[in-house]
Amino acid sequence: MNKKEIIEKITLKKDFSQLPEKDVEIAFNKFDKPCYLDEEKIKLTRDILRKVFSVFTSKKLLNIKEKDLEWILNKHISTKERLKYYPEVYEKIFSDFKSLDKKKVFLFDFGAGINGFSCKYFPIKLNYVGVEGMKQLVDLMNHYFNKNNFNGKAIQESLFNLNELKEIILKEKGKKILFLFKVLDSLEMLQENYSKEFLKELTPLVDMVVISFATRSLIKKQRFKVNRKWILDFIEENFDLMEDFEIGNERYIKFRSKFKFK
Ligand SMILES: C[S@@+](CC[C@H](N)C(=O)[O-])C[C@H]1O[C@@H](n2cnc3c(N)ncnc32)[C@H](O)[C@@H]1O
Repeated sequence: MNKKEIIEKITLKKDFSQLPEKDVEIAFNKFDKPCYLDEEKIKLTRDILRKVFSVFTSKKLLNIKEKDLEWILNKHISTKERLKYYPEVYEKIFSDFKSLDKKKVFLFDFGAGINGFSCKYFPIKLNYVGVEGMKQLVDLMNHYFNKNNFNGKAIQESLFNLNELKEIILKEKGKKILFLFKVLDSLEMLQENYSKEFLKELTPLVDMVVISFATRSLIKKQRFKVNRKWILDFIEENFDLMEDFEIGNERYIKFRSKFKFK
């Protein structure tokens, strides 16, 4: 089989049928080596795509439209884990933006999953722009935003398409916040060290970035032994670190560009 045929076969599976082409290709390229048979390439690519995209989402989410917010937030691992902490987390995150009530504030939520459904917990008026690779989740959020007249939209885009992401941010005028909740690990899985390039390019375009990591495994309740030092050192070296806190097994790091705020 040639590359195109293999990629077509990979995306025959429903879970992967609506992902950005770019991500499928990056995943496939990792295993497009002479040491693997075609069937192995297909299996390994699907395994990594599952870890990056679909593992967090309950199958139930992919077919529903009319359910209440909490039901939906409970069907994605990341929002489920955060659900009871949202008021506290958002209170801390948005503390610097509360006095800006009259200004337009845009929240760019990259690798959003279904985090747009947490809009009822926002302590300030926000314009929400979620960017997510899984089309089914994008459609679900847009359906909700339209039905409830909420000032938000979700866009399907790969987080590896930096130019498109920049356009999405630059198009809007106002104060800007970028969320990267539990998403940098997924980027690193597909392309090592990409997070650094990503943060260097996007941080200067916004007023504040918030990244987060899980600190405990939900199933084993054990603290992860993953070493986050590289990313923390990188942030301290390159940006202005604003706050670093942990709430409910998730660590949040707030930072901004050094130059924009001198
Ligand atoms: C662990 S989930 C976190 C979801 C959300 N940020 C939250 O914390 O509630 C990671 C999300 O990022 C999305 N994602 C991962 N890699 C991506 C990529 N390259 N482009 C677009 N979305 C991506 C996945 O589909 C998934 O929904």
